[in-house]
Amino acid sequence: MAQKGLSENLEKKLEENKKTPPEEGLILYNGELYPAGACKPETLSILHTFKARSDDVVLVGYAKTGTNWLGHILIELEAASGKYDEEERNRRKQQEKELKLMPYLEFGDPEKFQRMEMLPSRRIIRTHLIPHKMPKTFFEQNTKMLVLFRNPKDTAVSYFHFAKSMKLTSSEKTWDEFFSDFINGKVAYGFYLDHITEWNKYIDDKNVMFITYEELKENTTSGLKRIAEFFEFSVTEKDIQTIEEKTSFKTMKERAAETHGDIGQNFFRKGIVGDWKSIFSVDQSEEMDRKFEENVGRTRLGKMLKYEVYCKN
Ligand code: A3P
Repeated sequence: MAQKGLSENLEKKLEENKKTPPEEGLILYNGELYPAGACKPETLSILHTFKARSDDVVLVGYAKTGTNWLGHILIELEAASGKYDEEERNRRKQQEKELKLMPYLEFGDPEKFQRMEMLPSRRIIRTHLIPHKMPKTFFEQNTKMLVLFRNPKDTAVSYFHFAKSMKLTSSEKTWDEFFSDFINGKVAYGFYLDHITEWNKYIDDKNVMFITYEELKENTTSGLKRIAEFFEFSVTEKDIQTIEEKTSFKTMKERAAETHGDIGQNFFRKGIVGDWKSIFSVDQSEEMDRKFEENVGRTRLGKMLKYEVYCKN
């Protein structure tokens, strides 16, 4: 399936971005902002050479929507479905380590795409990219994609704390300044609501499954079952239960140093819904409400995010 056309608004914004110098910590490539510490223009320029497989397991989510959580869930589901014993799990982990693959498709060195070909199926591939920046090969191969969203207010707050803790923005940057950047798309991966606008075009695509952070928090078991069914993972009730425990916020936070090294704690902050209320001013909240309504409030995907429930008092 071909990628769908860009909205006029987005095209205009990308053109404007081209004229704006990026702030420290960001690189501007082809009209889009990326995290400078992880992304290189040489890699982004050959993203289109990446070869997807039809059985790849793809997770797409804007930064701070819960991609580490979902990524871990997918690894566990795939391993349970493949009935890997401890030895096979360790072998796969070791191979990934040796191939020096960074966790998101767009991160790292340009040779990584070749090295990824050495990975056995089914590969778990994560990306923060907006669909029209993703390699077309995913769409051509009918690869199944799980697309994750989180309510925009909590996403902004999570992003702010993460950017500070990882020094992606200056330590002096205040929440008010960050909020202004976020709502104007002057952060890595651009304006969050554009991702909703663009993915809304795929709402009826049978190879795309949408899930929200909030849905998964509220009913993890049914979320895991839905994901397993979509990717045709063959897992038992017992597997689901074990995976739910292994991927709980508490367990993942406790294992942060082991899975993410010294910076591990930065990826597991609070893990709750509604933290925006602790930091948004009334004006900021109303500005986000307006933007949401104007941009995506009436789209089917916008409605699926239950903005009224999670972003209004
Ligand atoms: P908070 O900053 O609101 O706590 P990402 O993985 O895309 O960077 O997203 C990070 C957000 O997901 C953080 O949100 C983090 O705490 C939350 N998170 C990580 N693991 C989680 C888990 N197992 N359960 C729930 N939330 C989790």
